[in-house]
Amino acid sequence: MNIKEQIEDLKKQIRHHDYLYYCLDNPEISDFEYDKLFKQLQKLENENPLFITSDSPTQRVSGAVVSSTFEKVKHSTPMLSLENSYSLEDVTAWNQRVKKNLNTNEDIEYIVEPKIDGLSAGLTYINNSFVSGATRGDGEYGEDITENLKTVKNIPLKLLSEENITLCEIRGEVYINKKDFQTLNETLLDKGAAKFANPRNAAAGSLRQKNPQITAERHLSFFVHSFGQIQGLKEGKEIKKHSEFLKFCSKAGFPIQKNIKVCKTIEEVKNFLMFLQDNRDNLPYEIDGAVVKINDYGQQKITGYTNKSPRWAIAYKFPARQAETKLLSIGLQVGRTGVVTPKAVLEPVALSGVVISNATLHNFDEIERLNINIGDNVIIERAGEVIPKIIKVSKKNSDGYFLPPMQCPSCGSKIVKEDGDVYYNCINPSCPAQIRRSLIHFVSRDAMNIDGFGEAVIDQLLKQNKLHNFADIYKLNFDDFMMLDLFKEKKANNLMQAIVDSKKQPLNKLISALGIKHIGDKSAQILAERFKNIDNLIGAKYEELISINEIGPVLVQSVIDFFANPKTVKMIEELKMLGVNTVDPEKDTSFSPLANKTFVLTGELTSFTRKEAENLILSLGGKTTSSVSKKTDYVVAGENAGSKYDKAVKLGVKILNEKEFREMLKIPEEEPLSLF
Ligand code: IVH
Repeated sequence: MNIKEQIEDLKKQIRHHDYLYYCLDNPEISDFEYDKLFKQLQKLENENPLFITSDSPTQRVSGAVVSSTFEKVKHSTPMLSLENSYSLEDVTAWNQRVKKNLNTNEDIEYIVEPKIDGLSAGLTYINNSFVSGATRGDGEYGEDITENLKTVKNIPLKLLSEENITLCEIRGEVYINKKDFQTLNETLLDKGAAKFANPRNAAAGSLRQKNPQITAERHLSFFVHSFGQIQGLKEGKEIKKHSEFLKFCSKAGFPIQKNIKVCKTIEEVKNFLMFLQDNRDNLPYEIDGAVVKINDYGQQKITGYTNKSPRWAIAYKFPARQAETKLLSIGLQVGRTGVVTPKAVLEPVALSGVVISNATLHNFDEIERLNINIGDNVIIERAGEVIPKIIKVSKKNSDGYFLPPMQCPSCGSKIVKEDGDVYYNCINPSCPAQIRRSLIHFVSRDAMNIDGFGEAVIDQLLKQNKLHNFADIYKLNFDDFMMLDLFKEKKANNLMQAIVDSKKQPLNKLISALGIKHIGDKSAQILAERFKNIDNLIGAKYEELISINEIGPVLVQSVIDFFANPKTVKMIEELKMLGVNTVDPEKDTSFSPLANKTFVLTGELTSFTRKEAENLILSLGGKTTSSVSKKTDYVVAGENAGSKYDKAVKLGVKILNEKEFREMLKIPEEEPLSLF
């Protein structure tokens, strides 16, 4: 065999073993033997890089980090969703509609599959090689997550089919096994990062990572459930049923769920639905229901589609899992905006494999509505596998009522409830609990995403008086972290790097991170798109804000109130000076006041450090160099400026003193900085 043939042979062997291991869970060789094959392939490829193909097993983590957003891609056919049903009666009604559509009284052949709680992805193969993959997105357009999908070990990079499938788009669910989910959360907690609430969020968060290396570490899995198109099947090999499609996929090297059943009657369907419901906890992955599909493609075609979902399928959603326990006490939590919420402390009880000892109660009206008091037996429920909630009292063991607090449990300030509002608020903006919560929110994954800046880190830094506002995060140094519990050099360095990386977060994430009351991810996105930089948003007038369709009066008032505080504006200026991105560079053509302007800094500036001034210039589109030439636009001269000042005078370059520089950047006079 020549080198190329040897490489091809090794790839074929490895693909076969990958399939046995990842899809069938039935390996034929030991890990040691597998590693030997893999290393052999790596060696040959390293020595002969021209023979490396993108579908080689060695190329699972080869993609570069995505810089800003994922590219949009149009799906070959729309990726629809499913109509939901919540009872067997709903399934009967669906069956009657289907029969009417098919104009038949005969039994239909159905196929029932567990409904995996993950997220949809479409995988495109050309001539049997995986070429691209996308999320579902809005059903018409998805996001290109090819490199991340390549890291999912049970997705074949090359189809094992004997025939050449010229073009196909296979669709399925990307998910994370319960065990891998648990390990992932333990690792995140160890790193001081926030854990994921449920496997679905974990899969979604991992799949949309900008760095494929991280996705690879998350151990995602895939199951096929449908397709967009298949071209290139030989004559006589047409696929006529969904069960045949699944067989075809299995042969091609895709993972297929084990608990799938072809049913000849709707009664059989219902029995199998109940079987899956009763046995959901025995599966290694999370399912939130089952999907009933008409098996025959000819019949599927006749039944057709609504504009959102196929008429030939229905999702049967399992009821939320419930358990009974006792309410031991009601704790009080102060949120980042001052809202005081009750939290149920429960006698620990097992629910779907997790021991539950807390539940949300939303607000004090809910306590009244449910007529709950400490000591009562209650029914709790986990909907969507997130934090459980109390559904009702199952046994009243107490007299009297639980009354809302009059004072903040953190700072003792007065608690105020506005008329018509269900929330009780601590009105002290310096309340330590609010500051702590704001910081937790600021660094969180969906905000500035500072990995490793967990609650334990925040608590220690608050105690040491090193954190008073968001800007302080960017002033912390290596030694500050080395003083924290369980921090060694590597962990401190990683955290420093995560802080630096967070400075590049897009504007919408920064707006979200600020924690403006009522402004969530969606409205932050809208504000970022509309205002394009933080200064425009700070300066936005009521009329301007209210003219945005999606932003109602409550949100508008909240934004106005938030930026009306001069300390907040100061703190944002400081973030800017510390190098935090406050503009939307791609979309913002209007706001780059220093675009293409070159600055030289000389002498000592009194109100910021050299680095802060450089960051500021960079963030506004300008650049800095170290020596003065004719191409220099401005020289900023601080105290004791030397030869650079003289050269600027000689070359006629415009010189700015510190005050003029501040005016140019619209930075007001110095005042002590603090957000709270
Ligand atoms: S069939 C036209 N089968 O559930 C849609 N979907 O709520 C064809 N899902 O978007 C999808 N398990 O992401 C199908 N066994 C299964 C599924 C499944 C999970 C997801 C899929 C779909 C969503 C609809």
